[in-house]
Amino acid sequence: MALFTLPRQGDFGKVWLVGAGPGDVELLTLKAYRILKQADVVLFDALVSDDIMALVPESAEKIAVGKRAGKHSAAQDEINQLLVTKAYTRKNVVRLKGGDPFIFGRGGEELETLVEAGVTFEVVPGITAASGTSAYAGIPLTHRDHAQGVTFITGHCKLESRPMDWNACANSQNTLVIYMGILNAATIEQGLIDAGRSASTPVAIVSKATTSEQRRFIGTLGELGQLVSSPELKMPALMIIGEVVGLADSLNWFNPEQVQSNAEQALSLSLQV
Ligand SMILES: C[S@@+](CC[C@H](N)C(=O)[O-])C[C@H]1O[C@@H](n2cnc3c(N)ncnc32)[C@H](O)[C@@H]1O
Repeated sequence: MALFTLPRQGDFGKVWLVGAGPGDVELLTLKAYRILKQADVVLFDALVSDDIMALVPESAEKIAVGKRAGKHSAAQDEINQLLVTKAYTRKNVVRLKGGDPFIFGRGGEELETLVEAGVTFEVVPGITAASGTSAYAGIPLTHRDHAQGVTFITGHCKLESRPMDWNACANSQNTLVIYMGILNAATIEQGLIDAGRSASTPVAIVSKATTSEQRRFIGTLGELGQLVSSPELKMPALMIIGEVVGLADSLNWFNPEQVQSNAEQALSLSLQV
């Protein structure tokens, strides 16, 4: 069954699916910046930082479609439909997502709807939370002495109906990055230890990574439950599990206080262009 009534060919606008990066405005790509500046409509998620939204032209219609708007992921159909409706009005529509749209971002689902509706689109990748967090927390995800590979997983899948394959994540030579895992920390800890990953494996939880509020919580896999119960842990937060976390203190370079003044400089530069 067709979801939409197609307008005449040539009457369409276009959608740009754009990754906004993990928070620090300076991690936005030049391409994303250029496209934002030409936007007529921006549909944005809760994870897109205020500093990045400040770059959107005042004339553009800004539509919050994340939790900021009091909605949740169940509204995905509504978002898909809105994208099509806006594109049908010949607008330059930007769908702006935190991190990278194709990594735990439902970007694929939104594009499938656009294909079905005959709307053209482009995709602009963003720096995913794993990369931003790794860099700003001083934790390389691979290292020839500590990790030969890295795996990104979600800790938020329907654990009962689609249980995680913990055995596939148990290799001690592999770094594990877990998105959306905080609420399932106890299950993750138990699953990995049962699958053979040592309870002494170093673990970092990094909250609000790349922003002026970034915090790191470092411990071991056996302490994961304890780490997530810190009252200072704010969302969003990412888990990095593996020997590479042992480098976090020696490679710690990031000064969160610098982010705000960098963002202000970037904004004033953008206003001069
Ligand atoms: C729905 S996923 C979206 C991921 C996004 N598409 C990306 O590529 O980063 C949301 C999860 O990403 C992680 N995340 C996003 N931004 C983050 C940040 N600044 N600091 C820490 N974790 C972040 C958290 O695990 C959060 O629950």
